[in-house]
Amino acid sequence: MTNNNIYFVANWKMYGNLTSLNALNKVINISRSKFFKKAKFIYCPPFTLLDQFLKKTINTKIEVGAQDCHFVNGSGPYTGMISANQIKKLGTKYIILGHSEKRSDGDTNQIINKKILISIKEKLKVILCVGETLKDKKNKKEINVLKTQLNSCLKNLKQKKNIIIAYEPVWSIGTGRVPTNADIYKNVKFIKNFIKKKFKNKNIVVLYGGSVNQKNIGILKKINNIDGFLIGGASQNYDKFIDIVKKTII
Ligand code: 13P
Repeated sequence: MTNNNIYFVANWKMYGNLTSLNALNKVINISRSKFFKKAKFIYCPPFTLLDQFLKKTINTKIEVGAQDCHFVNGSGPYTGMISANQIKKLGTKYIILGHSEKRSDGDTNQIINKKILISIKEKLKVILCVGETLKDKKNKKEINVLKTQLNSCLKNLKQKKNIIIAYEPVWSIGTGRVPTNADIYKNVKFIKNFIKKKFKNKNIVVLYGGSVNQKNIGILKKINNIDGFLIGGASQNYDKFIDIVKKTII
């Protein structure tokens, strides 16, 4: 880990209901402990729970994010869609964009770019997911893929303020397989250098995501250029999530 704040971002995907909220107190409690001063907790529940999460986390250290928005902002005749403006108006601070599960639903780098520009205009903090497929990895194309995704998704963005990058290899999501620490280090280093060159600013938060769990966290936390984790499956269980936080920090 770097010496900065350590991010623990919980991506709940299409899981959770009102009863899942009850145990959030456990995380609120540990977030108040002096041992976890450096930890930043961000919960990204489905849209249906955003409002309840926001209410429950008032005056706590837990921040809340959405998992997507439409590529048109404001309001309009877009059945089933939610705009960045609507998300922001609820009081949400963060938004995950470019997740591979959205990319496989049809989000291209160009669409993601539109969503990013809109979200930044709304003053949401964007967590942009990038990462290679298994085929890319086998063909040693990781860096090419990352470069294309970063170039296209961040096009026309004037500054990197409010941008966090999550390096999430597609082949690692939900599979129990993680890259070696050396591979994560190398790809995160590329991302950090890319951002440094593009925005002339070296302070960019980069997270790792993909099958992070209580068993591998002891190894993953040794990577000294990452600023935290984007956690899917293991974040839906509060005890597992807390265990990951404890094993990272203590
Ligand atoms: P898992 O932790 O379930 O592999 O999911 C990672 C992810 O997609 C987070 O955005």
